Amino acid sequence: MCGILGYVGHKEAEPILVEGLRRLEYRGYDSAGLVTLTGSKLHLRKRAGRIADLAAYLKERPAPGCHGISHTRWATHGPATDSNAHPHLSADGEVAVVHNGVIENYAALKRQLQEEGVTFRSDTDTEVIAQLIARHRDGDLVEAVRKALALLKGTYGLAVISRRAPDLIVGARLGSPLVLGIGEEEHFLASDPAALIGHTEKVVYLHDRELCVLTPADWRVLDADSMRVEACVHQLDWDPGDADKGAFEHHMLKEIYEQPEALENAMRGRLSDADATAHFGGLNLDPQQLRRAERLILTGCGTSYHAALVGEYLIEEFARLPVEVEYASEFRYRNPPIDRNTIVIAITQSGETADTLAALRESKRKGHPTLALCNVVGSTIAREADGGVYLRAGPEVGVASTKAFSSQVAVLTMLALYLGRMRHLSSLQGAQMIRELRGIPEAVRQALDCHDAVRAIARRYAGARNFLYLGRQYLFPVALEGALKLKEISYAHAEGYPAAEMKHGPIALVDEQTPSVFLIPRGPIFDKVMSNLEEIKARGGPVIAVASEGDGETAGQVLDRADDVIFVPDVPEYLQPLAAAVPLQLLAYHIALLRDCDVDKPRNLAKSVTVE
Ligand code: F6R
Repeated sequence: MCGILGYVGHKEAEPILVEGLRRLEYRGYDSAGLVTLTGSKLHLRKRAGRIADLAAYLKERPAPGCHGISHTRWATHGPATDSNAHPHLSADGEVAVVHNGVIENYAALKRQLQEEGVTFRSDTDTEVIAQLIARHRDGDLVEAVRKALALLKGTYGLAVISRRAPDLIVGARLGSPLVLGIGEEEHFLASDPAALIGHTEKVVYLHDRELCVLTPADWRVLDADSMRVEACVHQLDWDPGDADKGAFEHHMLKEIYEQPEALENAMRGRLSDADATAHFGGLNLDPQQLRRAERLILTGCGTSYHAALVGEYLIEEFARLPVEVEYASEFRYRNPPIDRNTIVIAITQSGETADTLAALRESKRKGHPTLALCNVVGSTIAREADGGVYLRAGPEVGVASTKAFSSQVAVLTMLALYLGRMRHLSSLQGAQMIRELRGIPEAVRQALDCHDAVRAIARRYAGARNFLYLGRQYLFPVALEGALKLKEISYAHAEGYPAAEMKHGPIALVDEQTPSVFLIPRGPIFDKVMSNLEEIKARGGPVIAVASEGDGETAGQVLDRADDVIFVPDVPEYLQPLAAAVPLQLLAYHIALLRDCDVDKPRNLAKSVTVE
């Protein structure tokens, strides 16, 4: 959600900034812009619409110079127009600012500035920042930024340049991520390390209330009192190819296909045959503390929330530990009684989701140990949790989360094994789980073989206005996730339910035009789910079944009753979410394509939701 990239060095800034913004496109935006500096002249170029619109404009009016800042905006204050796009200049044209976040007291500050005669050109909260910095500018840009920030209430990740400060970028962060990239005689400032891929692997993550100052030759991080901070330089281990589409038409499809490898990476070095359990390097909680835990709260948003629901089934079954799953957006404002021995686990791909971060901070404030299952290394949630486990899924660029979901489920399965082995699971049971887990990347690879079948099924149902997704037990959260995938990228209305819940109301929706996607489990509840399927068939509803390739008899029953069947490899019940998610992701993908939707950048959505 919004993206920032700044560059100061010896190369032309414009191509670096435009290319970097393209890498941030996946976050969602509705306008883009940049400003560069030559001598004491600022070259401002911005456009509502896509980065391609900005690039076309830059062809007519290039922005020269080796020093500049750029931005993709996702509208919060004022519509997506050229004038509301960032960068914003102060009225005197001295200072240029790009900003992520929300300034809560901007209206009062704007009124005050207007009363003092300052004119505004946009509806944005950001323009207030540019005006305030210009107000306090009496030579030193860093000091002016610091004084302006002291007046703001809200969140910001920002980059500032000034006509009178050649070769200088000032950055600041409070609640919105910023990362500094260190190159040879060149430095970068970005809201997301993805923008730095291919330029540098050395980065510094800024903390809240820190400022940074970049010149071609030097960089430094300052605290809110302008004292120099000893910053920690991290190494990015992303491959430049990771953020490209490769041979795939869309990032989403590439990421669906990356799942077997992502699962292998999630498990690499974490399964121990010697003691038949899982090991995690970064939990930072001693085994006694984990052994004493009487309850876990798993919290997250969207897809990560669905992974948490799978985690609830897993941890309760294998560790016999009570688990509650909470939407982070609700949990942050609730005041539930939480007993002493409760561990709160935040689940997040980006590590920057505002609601999940707030839930984590609230839990810490109440004194609970916190863990994070997170994909983006060095992200805010990863840094603020007491400990955690990285997903190692690699960059997820498509807005619709796919490989992060499977990696989250895999890590939760290993966590269930680890907590289970501390409690009730025997070493034989542990060893069996390890064997089964090791087989799962291959099973997911085989599940991808359903691609052609799914594409054909998508053609039959792409015109439907409503879909139902139904599953039970481990497959209930997968039904929710399948429905979310379909609605977010194809804009078809889809609802997920526990299959048996249908008869308590939703079955009224069933008719010949409303397909139901049924997730058929193997094992003891197979017959129950087949009865639920009959209830839909009896009302004329078309059924698309996702079933295990199990024995001939059950497969025959499904083939007999469902209109279309997608078979996935037969894996133990607790691993079925990983196999069953694949056809649902592909179904959403193909239906979205057939409906002419922008799969990687669905309307109204952003990859990382850093506002409340
Ligand atoms: C759906 C999707 C979102 C995210 C949610 C949480 O495909 O991507 O629902 O899962 O915004 O994001 P993270 O996991 O980054 O906290």
